[in-house]
Amino acid sequence: MKRLEGKSAIITGAARGIGRGFAERYIAEGARVAIADINFAGAQKTAKELGDAAYAVMLDVCDQSSIDDAVTQVVKTAGKIDVLINNAALFDAAETVDITRSSYEKLYAVNVSGTLFTMQAVAKQMITQGHGGKIINMASQAGRRGESLVLVYCSTKAAVISMTQSAGLNLIKHGINVNAIAPGVVDGEHWEHVDSMFAKLEGKAIGQKKAEVASNVPLGRFAVPTDLTGMAVFLASSDADYIVSQTYNVDGGQWMS
Ligand SMILES: NC(=O)c1ccc[n+]([C@@H]2O[C@H](COP(=O)([O-])OP(=O)(O)OC[C@H]3O[C@@H](n4cnc5c(N)ncnc54)[C@H](O)[C@@H]3O)[C@@H](O)[C@H]2O)c1
Repeated sequence: MKRLEGKSAIITGAARGIGRGFAERYIAEGARVAIADINFAGAQKTAKELGDAAYAVMLDVCDQSSIDDAVTQVVKTAGKIDVLINNAALFDAAETVDITRSSYEKLYAVNVSGTLFTMQAVAKQMITQGHGGKIINMASQAGRRGESLVLVYCSTKAAVISMTQSAGLNLIKHGINVNAIAPGVVDGEHWEHVDSMFAKLEGKAIGQKKAEVASNVPLGRFAVPTDLTGMAVFLASSDADYIVSQTYNVDGGQWMS
């Protein structure tokens, strides 16, 4: 049986990577999915590749009118919103003394404000619809503890865990379950970027950081997006109706909490 039959979902940052993986699985489970991304050309390409149940939506999570327009477009196209995955995020790494205000502001605008105000706009729509919904925020093991060169990103993901707790407690009275997924390390373009940053910062060869990190995962390898999709389907399904404000580690055993 398909577990998301008839559901309408919006996934931010779904043009590539983990978000794309979620979209593919949601479609296989019977959902209609808005591929919402600031990279609109990428979103269009992904939607085309994923077939008729996918459609592209232009979305900059830093811009309130773009968020409102995206919600309007999803409702116009699919008639409703049942599920949001707040997945769009940026990463940066630097020595603490080298962190710039512009990097800080950019990461907070996308990872924190973007997550909050997209969640808010979709929650308002779900409240208007009157039959609840599911919101899944993308946290990270980086939100569970600091990392020497990753102060800003880690703190944005700690904020996502905290916002998930408060929003979950506040919105459950409307039948909206807010929960989060905290992945460990997931292969893809994002990690190519991370690896090249660490190569510069730590004087490593390209690929060295990735190999070191992979060897520290108890399960023995990086995740791929399909390792996370089961949790995303579960949290979007009625099986998760009694789950409120939680952040689930899907990280091959890296973090226990
Ligand atoms: N890859 C990992 O190892 C890893 C680990 C833990 C958590 N995560 C989290 O999982 C999520 C997805 O990660 P990923 O590796 O697929 O990232 P990615 O960089 O591959 O994809 C991010 C997507 O977000 C989009 N985006 C960026 N800014 C945006 C904006 N302002 N508005 C709308 N879309 C925007 C990008 O265009 C891109 O398509 C992120 O929240 C990330 O922090 C990733």
